[in-house]
Amino acid sequence: MTQKTTQDPAEIAGRFPQDFTWGLATASYQIEGATKTDGRGPCIWDAFSNMPGRVYQGHNGDVACDHYNRWESDLDLIKQMGVDAYRFSIAWPRILPQGRGDVNEKGLDFYDRLVDGMVERGLKVFPTLYHWDLPLALAGYGGWTDRDTANAFAEYTSHVVKRIGDRIDALATFNEPWCSTYLGHWIGKHAPGERSIDAALAAVHVTNLAHGLSVQAARAERSDIPMGTVINAQSIFAASDKEEDKAAAERAFQFHNGVFFGPVFDGAYDAEFEAALGDKLRVQDGDMKIINQPLDWWGFNYYFPGMVKHDPDKRADLTGVGAMGSFDTDADPASEFLALKAVPSSGSDARTDIGWEMRPDGISHLLTQVYDRYDNLPPVYITENGACYNMGPDENGVVDDQPRQDYIADHLDALAGSLNEGIPLKGYFAWSLMDNFEWAEGYKMRFGLVHVDYETQVRTIKASGHWYADIARAHDAAQ
Ligand code: NOJ
Repeated sequence: MTQKTTQDPAEIAGRFPQDFTWGLATASYQIEGATKTDGRGPCIWDAFSNMPGRVYQGHNGDVACDHYNRWESDLDLIKQMGVDAYRFSIAWPRILPQGRGDVNEKGLDFYDRLVDGMVERGLKVFPTLYHWDLPLALAGYGGWTDRDTANAFAEYTSHVVKRIGDRIDALATFNEPWCSTYLGHWIGKHAPGERSIDAALAAVHVTNLAHGLSVQAARAERSDIPMGTVINAQSIFAASDKEEDKAAAERAFQFHNGVFFGPVFDGAYDAEFEAALGDKLRVQDGDMKIINQPLDWWGFNYYFPGMVKHDPDKRADLTGVGAMGSFDTDADPASEFLALKAVPSSGSDARTDIGWEMRPDGISHLLTQVYDRYDNLPPVYITENGACYNMGPDENGVVDDQPRQDYIADHLDALAGSLNEGIPLKGYFAWSLMDNFEWAEGYKMRFGLVHVDYETQVRTIKASGHWYADIARAHDAAQ
């Protein structure tokens, strides 16, 4: 890819406001390991990753980056990388090993120490309550398809906020509900590995309900806590200006994004979507009011674009929308509704090592789209953005990952454009602090700005990490 955008750290930092937050992100199951330590209960990813054929080479999160034991040096590393903030997630099964009921104080102690460590180092605290490690005990009752899981999530929220709520800068209820519902229950690539549109849409609504109940529970403990949610909204382009393709893109928007944005920010599902698939959501009276809590911020995770064209055969080939490969949902009621086909969108064959298309203007496209559509959208953080490149250290111990740097520079360039357009963008978190357990891809796919040698647990800051640190430091220097 020819580089058009600046890579000069000071120049980049200068394009973002003084109060902009630069951060790094991780998630509990992907880095912590210690899955059987200090009373942690099993989660659905422990079960799923130990089922043959589900995760690349049978990898699992048992050890991961051993962050549970190395958290102090990991926080030092984050500090060394010059950023202002750290986004991490809390493992529900450490706090409530059975999903509800008995509290495991040792689990809370861990996050208490971690948060204190962040405060001591002057790092802003951005926890996420749910980044996919649902306590396995709850899966026995149907997991996210069971309404009662929403109540359990609110209970869990209260315990967390009671213990660490006094030191939180921004609390997210969910990370990427698209993945924990569609990818986990419809496409089956993530835990729990179901393939049912009925289950997926039931999970969508229970997740939305859980979000609303969690916001209420958090604010009942601390009314001032800045609440948000993190959505991996799909940035979907229409393949042409034809009305039928634009209508297909609209249906895709509603199916992939509207199901979360609508209830959370507008208190309603889209009418056309609801007419087609609404019975599967199992909405009850009063739910929408609970879900539609005003939020202080929201997070957008962006990696790749999607492009769709109308398909009269009504086969929802999702390639490119979710980057999940060809998923033939023939005879699925969702494909009846979607009636589309995904086509390549970037106009270039360049892909990251995980096979995802690159299209930096996809990030700004989506932001413009949602701020146009939803009147009540609060300010946004880019809570994840980054690229998979698997190169390791050379003979001098240097990890030259220029393509990752290019990717981030291009996306920051697009975001500077969004700011100029008036989008209330508050910060950017690179995914990820370090290489980690990349879900179904195991440890094969590396997104870190820091390289992890899984044999020795040695961390090496990659070239992109040094460069990113320079941006964060240039921003501080200009304060
Ligand atoms: C989004 C997810 O939140 C994160 O867990 C994952 O590792 C990255 N995307 C990369 O796939």
